[in-house]
Order: sequence, then structure tokens, then C-alpha cells
Amino acid sequence: MTVTTDVKLAVAALASGRLCAIPTETVYGLAASAHDATAVARVFRAKSRPLDHPLIVHVASLDQVSNWITDLPEWAQTLAAQVWPGPLTLVGNRTKLASDAITGGQETVAVRIPSHLVAQQVLQELAEQGILGLVAPSANRFGHVSPTSANHVEVDLGQYLEAHGDLILDGGVCEVGLESTIVLATKDQPVILRLGAITAQDIEQVTGKSVLHTVDGVPRVSGALESHYAPRADVILVTDVSQVLSANSGLLALSQISTPVGVHRLAAPNSVEDFAHELYSALRTGDDLNLKTIYVVPPLGTGLAQAITDRLERAAF
Ligand code: TXA
Ligand code: MG
Repeated sequence: MTVTTDVKLAVAALASGRLCAIPTETVYGLAASAHDATAVARVFRAKSRPLDHPLIVHVASLDQVSNWITDLPEWAQTLAAQVWPGPLTLVGNRTKLASDAITGGQETVAVRIPSHLVAQQVLQELAEQGILGLVAPSANRFGHVSPTSANHVEVDLGQYLEAHGDLILDGGVCEVGLESTIVLATKDQPVILRLGAITAQDIEQVTGKSVLHTVDGVPRVSGALESHYAPRADVILVTDVSQVLSANSGLLALSQISTPVGVHRLAAPNSVEDFAHELYSALRTGDDLNLKTIYVVPPLGTGLAQAITDRLERAAF
């Protein structure tokens, strides 16, 4: 059996070099011991992920960050203390423990402390056994929509995981629903590499620093490829439903926007937070229904709305 709710089983699997998909507050991650080069290599194979797309190391608590990152600027320490555990990833200068297999040969490493209680339990129990971090990319096929439930993981990777004796730890539906905000923390100023639930405004407020969005020579972020987070159906962004054609199509929009006749309503979230929470699941439902086109009216505004629109533009590309 691949899917379990037994944390001990998951911990034992990870400690013995097997893979285990774990729930986090953002999306499910396909985890492996960050100390085990063979297991890390299998994470890439399971996802069909190119080897030069670096992985995030997940740790249990703040005191473990220095195992992976040599030094963080003061603003990043303030941000970490305020936001972690939570949907934030910091990219810092790597220690020797952060191998080339994890960083894709780069001198920086991405680290995050997830807040999901099940992820916390797994990471803490492993730390007690001397395993100080888990690599965990989103547990989807490379380029596909990230998984926000154990079932999504099973659909994408179940066959591979089953065949190799790997596991999926079911911790329910992910609360945030969008991948973590990634912030480069090697300079005097924060640079956002991927938008997420922790917004530029949050970061400016906490650190007192103004935030940059791009910088020359910044390492690749795979979610920054133009086409990513994509379902099979064509995704078309519209500003109002008069642009929606009913032939074999679906609609994702805030609840106050009504559904044209003959169109399948994929989700009707009540808020921007709900929109993020239901986004990936709605895109996957569109594929389950074999829809040709998924129309989306993205939420307006900055912050989380902007992060949602960013993912949708890549899904639509
Ligand atoms: O919310 C999340 O971050 C989820 C959960 C499972 O924690 N994980 C996730 O992992 O989204 P993944 O691998 O799908 O996306 C991580 C991104 C990749 O786009 C990767 O390129 C970028 O982080 N990344 C990793 N290390 C990096 C580094 N040293 N410099 C720049 N980007 C890096
Ligand atoms: Mg991903």
C-alpha cells in the first residue's frame, strides 16, 4: 500500500532511503533524506525533473538552518524568525552539507521550515535520528500542476512510488494551496524569486527593506519557466465571462461571477485565499472531466492575487 496516515511508517521509510510524499501547508512535497545522494537522485527520476533544477531543503526548526546555510543577512534572520514555520523559502549561501545533487552545483541552497503539523512531526522525528533535512520538490510530474491532496500525488506519481516501495503520507488538503514564496537572501536587500502567500508587502513590513523582484545572474527557478503548473486543458485568462465559449469548457472565478449556460463550474471561491486554496484542484478537475478549455477570471489586486495570476499565466502559456 502506497498511501498511509502513519507518521512512524513515513519516518522509517525516509530514514531508510525511500521516498515519501509529505503534506505541507503549501503543496505536497516528494521528500527524501537530504543526506542520501541516491534517494535525492530518485526524486529527480520520479518527477522526470531536469537535474539542474535545485531542490528545497526542509528543516524542523530555526536552529537547524545553519546546517545548510552559512550566514543570513540580518534582515533575513528577522524575516525567518517572524514567518517560519510558514510558506517562505530562503535561498542562502550553502554549507558543505548542501551537496551539488541538491543545489544543481550552485553555491546557494534553498531552505524552508513548513508549518504543517504532520510535516513538523516527520522532520522532528528524523532530526532526532540525525537526519537534518528533507529535500522536497512539489510532488507532481515536472511541469504539471502542483498537488494539494494525497490523491493528486497518487495520480501523478503513484505508479512510480508503488513500483519502488515508496510512500505517500496523507495529511489532508493543503491549506494555502500555492507554493512558498522564494526569497534570495545573499544580499543586503531581499529579492523575490517566486511569488507566494508571503507577499512583498509582508516582507517590507517585517524587514524594513525594499524588495527587488529580479536580479541579473540569479539562478534558475523551475517554476519560473514560462510554461509550468499546466493542466492538459488549454487555460485561457479572461476579464469577464462574456468571453467564455461553452463548448466543452470550464470556469474558475470568484463566487460573485456567475456561470454561463453550458459551462462546467470548476470552483467558485469566496475570497482570494480560497482561490489559492482551490486553484490547483480546480485545474485538475478540468482534466478529469476531459475539458478542452479552462477559462479563468483571475482575482484582482496585489499580494496573493498577484501570485495566483503569476501561476495562471504560466499555466496558460
Ligand atoms: O511550497 C513549496 O516550496 C513546495 C513545498 C513542497 O515545500 N516545494 C516546491 O518545490 O515548490 P519545487 O522544487 O517544486 O520548487 C522549488 C523551486 C524551484 O523552482 C527551484 O528552481 C527553486 O526552488 N530553487 C531551489 N534551490 C534554489 C537556489 N539555490 N536558487 C534559486 N532557486 C532555487
Ligand atoms: Mg514544483
